[in-house]
Amino acid sequence: MKSTLNILYILIFALIAFLLDPCDANDDACGILANNLKRSNKDPNISVKHSDVQACFESFPYDKNLAEKTIETLKKTLQGFYVFLSEAKEQPRQGFSFTAIDLVKELDSLLSNNYKTDYQFMTDIASLISETKDAHLSFYPFCYFIFTYNQQLSLYSTVINDKQVINIFADEIDKNTIDCEVTHIDGRPSIEVIKEFADTLSISKDSGVRFNFALSGVTFNKNGDLIESPGINKLPGSFTFRQQLPKQSSVEYSLKCANDTSKKFTREWKIRPELSNTFNTSKDYWNTFCLLNDSIVFTSNAETVAPKIYNMSECKMVYKTTIAKFFILSDNKTGVVVLTSVFPPDSYFVNEMFEIQNGFNSLEKEGVKKLVLDFSGNWGGSVELAFFIVYLLFPETDPSFNLDMVVTELSREAFFQATSQSVHEDFVDTSLIFPFVNISSKESIARWAAETAYRVTTISSVFDIFSYKNPATNDHFHTVEEFIGNNTYLRGGTSTRYTSKFVNRYSERLSIFIQLLSGYFFNMYEWKSDDMIILTDGFCGSSCSLIAQRMALNNNVSTVAVGGYKDTPLSYSSFPAGQVLKFEELISQLDAAGLLQNETLADLIPPLFLIRALFGFTLKENYDVVNKDNLNQEGVLEFTYKPAEHRFYLDEISARDPSVLWLKVAKELLN
Ligand SMILES: *[C@@H]1O[C@H](CO)[C@@H](O)[C@H](O)[C@H]1NC(C)=O
Ligand SMILES: *[C@@H]1O[C@H](CO)[C@@H](O)[C@H](O)[C@H]1NC(C)=O
Ligand SMILES: *[C@@H]1O[C@H](CO)[C@@H](O)[C@H](O)[C@H]1NC(C)=O
Ligand SMILES: *[C@@H]1O[C@H](CO)[C@@H](O)[C@H](O)[C@H]1NC(C)=O
Ligand SMILES: *[C@@H]1O[C@H](CO)[C@@H](O)[C@H](O)[C@H]1NC(C)=O
Ligand SMILES: *[C@@H]1O[C@H](CO)[C@@H](O)[C@H](O)[C@H]1NC(C)=O
Ligand SMILES: *[C@@H]1O[C@H](CO)[C@@H](O)[C@H](O)[C@H]1NC(C)=O
Ligand SMILES: *[C@@H]1O[C@H](CO)[C@@H](O)[C@H](O)[C@H]1NC(C)=O
Ligand SMILES: *[C@@H]1O[C@H](CO)[C@@H](O)[C@H](O)[C@H]1NC(C)=O
Ligand SMILES: *[C@@H]1O[C@H](CO)[C@@H](O)[C@H](O)[C@H]1NC(C)=O
Repeated sequence: MKSTLNILYILIFALIAFLLDPCDANDDACGILANNLKRSNKDPNISVKHSDVQACFESFPYDKNLAEKTIETLKKTLQGFYVFLSEAKEQPRQGFSFTAIDLVKELDSLLSNNYKTDYQFMTDIASLISETKDAHLSFYPFCYFIFTYNQQLSLYSTVINDKQVINIFADEIDKNTIDCEVTHIDGRPSIEVIKEFADTLSISKDSGVRFNFALSGVTFNKNGDLIESPGINKLPGSFTFRQQLPKQSSVEYSLKCANDTSKKFTREWKIRPELSNTFNTSKDYWNTFCLLNDSIVFTSNAETVAPKIYNMSECKMVYKTTIAKFFILSDNKTGVVVLTSVFPPDSYFVNEMFEIQNGFNSLEKEGVKKLVLDFSGNWGGSVELAFFIVYLLFPETDPSFNLDMVVTELSREAFFQATSQSVHEDFVDTSLIFPFVNISSKESIARWAAETAYRVTTISSVFDIFSYKNPATNDHFHTVEEFIGNNTYLRGGTSTRYTSKFVNRYSERLSIFIQLLSGYFFNMYEWKSDDMIILTDGFCGSSCSLIAQRMALNNNVSTVAVGGYKDTPLSYSSFPAGQVLKFEELISQLDAAGLLQNETLADLIPPLFLIRALFGFTLKENYDVVNKDNLNQEGVLEFTYKPAEHRFYLDEISARDPSVLWLKVAKELLN
């Protein structure tokens, strides 16, 4: 009897010990998440629990000192260099929608809130920054951005028989839902719910572009395969694939499927960490992901699922580069150029320049008479490469836009100091010129010229005024005073000083240099403006926007936008800005110019973050070419609404097969 009892006790103890074991040492909020993760890491199909992630995030108490330091860094950076600080206070022009805000004032006012958690505070900063709808201005507290949240289904929008609806694009779990209409999400009309989410995104000042971005579609990967976007190329941002913790742990969908059958289901978020760095407690999590610590190296935990490849019925590919794909449509006379990015792969600018030219040459060789230029889903990249593409098609025009920067006590000092250290005024660094080794072909001579031009004209500091020239005189600036000029504009109710208008001194010369050195190497194509059309989903951003706007404004190329809200005009491009600078780049440039060491500037210089954060801002702004003669107030491209002339909507087929859309555009708009 006694021994049985003992055994029973031992069993009970063992059971208790077993039950306690997983949480033993790790019983704080992130510890529970860590245990949960260790289990799910072995099986990619298991998700971390939404409530565990939330509890972990909320386990870090608000720290007033840390909050003040974070705000100070943001404020001083924006006050010193953010070119749109004043203009962000102006109400949006017709066609745009964003909240006009005084960023500095709003950042200050966050500090008077009684926050309980760091998470709430940081999330509020990120939301505030995104109110500007300036995609070049971003703040991501790393701490809360290491997971992805996936519904394992995606949505798109069609307009059929004049009615706009939301449909299921793809579904990893239940194929029967595909192409069903989503009538309601969480009990509310689906378009309303998507719009509400889309309007939290900062990728465009045009609400219709944000709507497109919140939905899914197809895009080309590097290999030229047509795959679903987003997700595969790791750019969360859609309603069903996110990087920020959703408010609820699941989403409920009400569907109307074929034959009017109805269906309702609830889908949990599948939550996975994007990094494989471990943590066992909240303290570990905080030290690893939240605090700045350069000695921590992150390793990716991204899933590598072979993407589903979509097929196209109305075209064949004739050339591909990493960022551009060239097709011929089944009408045998229209070529299509898809440009998915303007980032030269591995920064190998010169090679990509030649590759893109080879693509256009292939289309010419095939006897293509018309061109559809599809710039959808393009985040931009290199301004030089953008200008080069314009130059290829329109060699007789100057592709640049006038720029300026804001003049503040700090930026002024940066111009003086960086310029005083410059070697660029009268000569270029000849040590950067490669020996001329290969004269075996025209192409190799042209490549040498391009490589050389590119290397010797690379500027070391954005604040070095010798890197810029005056568009009015076409001569470079000779003194910092001349560059700074005397230009005060009233924007957002604030008198603000800006530099003289400038263009890059060297980059536009690159193409001309190549042309001169290579003689007749470069092709003059026969296509004229009215043989071409630019097609986008509105998400053609940054330097992509410069290509599109330059061709549309100066070269009379017409534009067609796809998707958006029915009967509301849609922009053909977004966030043209000028130049984005990452906070770390700013600091390293100020450091190189000797500003960080100067005691008298200490109050103006943004201190380094204590937290780990990704922060970037717009340094330069572009001006509209239409107002080239009236430069004072009007025409900052970023704030100028430019809807496309023509409009198309997707259906079940064209949403998955862009060649069907291209052919329709060619038939209806290119004749
Ligand atoms: C995950 O799920 C997919 C499909 O549901 C299945 O094919 C795969 O084998 C699963 N993976 C593991 C590791 O269980
Ligand atoms: C719809 O109804 C028709 C006729 O009742 C039937 O033949 C067809 O299979 C149904 N389709 C679906 C998808 O259920
Ligand atoms: C967490 O615990 C594991 C095993 O107990 C250990 O290997 C790892 O280094 C710990 N991680 C951290 C960040 O302390
Ligand atoms: C930074 O991380 C390293 C490695 O995890 C650690 O040893 C060090 O104490 C950390 N430094 C600070 C300031 O927390
Ligand atoms: C595309 O075509 C290939 C080969 O013809 C086929 O195996 C594949 O299933 C098709 N993909 C889709 C999404 O239809
Ligand atoms: C295009 O060319 C192919 C092969 O050369 C031919 O089969 C096809 O009929 C042509 N299509 C049109 C619309 O002319
Ligand atoms: C010289 O250029 C030609 C053509 O561009 C190329 O085929 C050859 O490999 C190059 N030779 C060297 C030594 O780089
Ligand atoms: C700057 O411009 C203002 C008005 O345009 C003028 O009154 C002032 O004298 C100018 N200052 C200099 C230094 O040129
Ligand atoms: C563009 O169109 C305008 C007005 O229709 C015309 O004045 C201008 O010359 C055209 N420009 C080009 C480059 O075709
Ligand atoms: C520090 O900055 C001031 C301007 O605020 C400037 O006059 C001074 O020359 C700078 N000192 C050094 C050592 O660069």
